[in-house]
Amino acid sequence: MTTTPRERVLTGDTPTGRLHLGHYVGSIENRLRLQEEYECYFLLANMHAFTTRSDKPDDIRADTIEIVKDWLACGIDPERSCVVLQTEVPAIAELTWYFSMLIAFNRVMRNPTLKTEIDAKGLGDHYSFGFPLYAVGQCADILAFRPVHVPVGEDQVAHIEMCREVARKFNHLYCGVDQHTLDEEHHTAGGVFPIPAALVGKVGRLVGTDGKQKMSKSLNNAIFLSDTPKEVKKKINAMYPGQSRNPDEPGIVEINPVFDYADIFIKDTAMVEELKDRYRRGDNLGDGHVKAPVIEAINELLDPIRARRAQYEGKDGNDMVIDIIRAGTKRANAVAEDTLARAKEAMRLGFGDRATFLG
Ligand code: TRP
Repeated sequence: MTTTPRERVLTGDTPTGRLHLGHYVGSIENRLRLQEEYECYFLLANMHAFTTRSDKPDDIRADTIEIVKDWLACGIDPERSCVVLQTEVPAIAELTWYFSMLIAFNRVMRNPTLKTEIDAKGLGDHYSFGFPLYAVGQCADILAFRPVHVPVGEDQVAHIEMCREVARKFNHLYCGVDQHTLDEEHHTAGGVFPIPAALVGKVGRLVGTDGKQKMSKSLNNAIFLSDTPKEVKKKINAMYPGQSRNPDEPGIVEINPVFDYADIFIKDTAMVEELKDRYRRGDNLGDGHVKAPVIEAINELLDPIRARRAQYEGKDGNDMVIDIIRAGTKRANAVAEDTLARAKEAMRLGFGDRATFLG
């Protein structure tokens, strides 16, 4: 019996703290689904963390371990999928250099995701040289694995678009792929790189508990996957429903962010419709009555995540995580080294394999 190799998927997170519900509905859910069918690589972008926090190496290390715990808690299966540590995949750093020469400096600086980040983090014009470079690095993160899909939140789509441009340019310059070749035909036309597609989750942008901005750790409006049932309850109960009204006055569903959560997290859609109906009519429905089933639904989603997380919270937890990182990264390097060798061959840089020069 022959088995065709599974197509690959790559995505990653920058270790900046714990994951929240926005990550879950934006990308994690897709990852869990994809790992059933594809060969998945989940990258810890710890190098990228240094682009804005080079003065915080201890924090970056702790966040790196913590994010793996979040992944495992969600159901990422390290037997099936690879957990990959960016700083131990040298092919990524090398490809970053080659790719940086295939994209105009000003094109990188116009990347809207970088601009948003500069504003959100208040970086002004003091950011490091490495900060915008990370966008090129992200092209290398992805292309090192020659994946077909990249599951990400909406904010990352601009990066994936840049990655697609780099892949097309590389295939054209070094593999003789005609410029008019369709994206899906680049690989069969002899390109080293397939043109990967971004895959955004069912909710690309989840509103935070402030009801205004996107859920984000730095905006203090996040419900974390590791929050206790009590914390979830407290955060939802503190949400402003968008209007002040008495339970017997008609309410506007559309301006109440609690209903966004109801739509996303409550499985019983008929029940949600009934709640909305009563709310609109002012049928004696207080905000607490809308919030209670939302709290319950979120806790129901988080309960198994909390239970799996507990396995890694003991004193051996960090060692277990490090073992998983080592095993996954080793498997990942086999793919990334193969990609790098193919890329260098195409660039007429094939003078011998690594062993020739390191031995
Ligand atoms: N920049 C991404 C984020 O901040 C993380 C990331 C790094 C990534 N490399 C990647 C995502 C490759 C997808 C593919 O969320």
